[in-house]
Amino acid sequence: MDIVLSGIRSTGHLHLGNYYGALRNFVKIQDTHKCFFFIADLHSLTTHPHPEDLHEGVKTILAEYLAAGLDPEKSAIFVQSEVPEVCELYVLLNMLAYKGEMERTASFKDKVRHNPNNVNIGLLSYPVLMASDILIHRAKYVPVGKDQEQHLEIARLLARRFNNMYGCDVFPEPEAFNFGSNLVKVPGLDGNGKMGKSEGNGIYLCDDERTITKKVMRAVTDSGPTEPDSPKPEVIENLFTLLKLVSEPETVQFFEEKWNDCSIRYGDLKKQLAADICKVTLPIRDRIESITSDAAYLRKVTEMGREKARASAQATLALAKEAVGLKRF
Ligand code: TRP
Repeated sequence: MDIVLSGIRSTGHLHLGNYYGALRNFVKIQDTHKCFFFIADLHSLTTHPHPEDLHEGVKTILAEYLAAGLDPEKSAIFVQSEVPEVCELYVLLNMLAYKGEMERTASFKDKVRHNPNNVNIGLLSYPVLMASDILIHRAKYVPVGKDQEQHLEIARLLARRFNNMYGCDVFPEPEAFNFGSNLVKVPGLDGNGKMGKSEGNGIYLCDDERTITKKVMRAVTDSGPTEPDSPKPEVIENLFTLLKLVSEPETVQFFEEKWNDCSIRYGDLKKQLAADICKVTLPIRDRIESITSDAAYLRKVTEMGREKARASAQATLALAKEAVGLKRF
């Protein structure tokens, strides 16, 4: 079975874009691939979160992952910092990563621009830690969005460089995994690109009914179609895209017809959209609440994940250390 690995930083809540973009596919591939899903709490340290916030952030994502259907029996679901082998590999790979290369990554330049007072070395070698996450499990596939492609390229580069330098083939080069026709782009509610791109343009899996309804009713629209069968402007197309994700085909068809004969009422469309989003997310929200309050379950899940991840990591690390020439007496 091919290995798939995905990491997520422990900041914020999961939104509908995460759900339809990745999570729903993660749930499916658990049956066909050997999966590693982890929460990248060490990566979160680059921005110096408060200790309480860091732990709460990890718990939030963990509960939301589980509530959405990630299964600790099928997959290794774990917390990055609980697998110390990653840090050991990180030290080895840091010796192969050149300062200039790291300075040229788009994400680093972006962080420097936005946060000139916190240009720490962890930030500079963020891609090396990410490469360690991937290579320590010798993962073949990594589902990544556009913003992480360059990081994956660095993971490939470091795998190649390590193998060449030490004349071995310890590390396979990881590939981007995209879910083919199952890959959907979920638009935000502000008519401004993807959900999650800007603050407050998303529906969170933990939102309650009132919040969801309020957010949807406030979504950006226009003044309505004036000619039959006219093309839809982007903000309206976005609402239809969301409708197609959560509603029955007949519902979509109904509003398509209303659009085409110019009798559409955006208020009705939004009410329907809000109700259908609720149908998808409210059961997940209920599970998030019960999982979050079940400390024993969370402990058990992370223990199981840690064990699986450490077994895999220890095997790889032994090979890497041997290749480098780090030996015991
Ligand atoms: N950098 C990724 C992000 O911000 C999170 C991440 C950390 C990751 N390590 C990873 C993703 C390894 C995939 C594989 O989204």
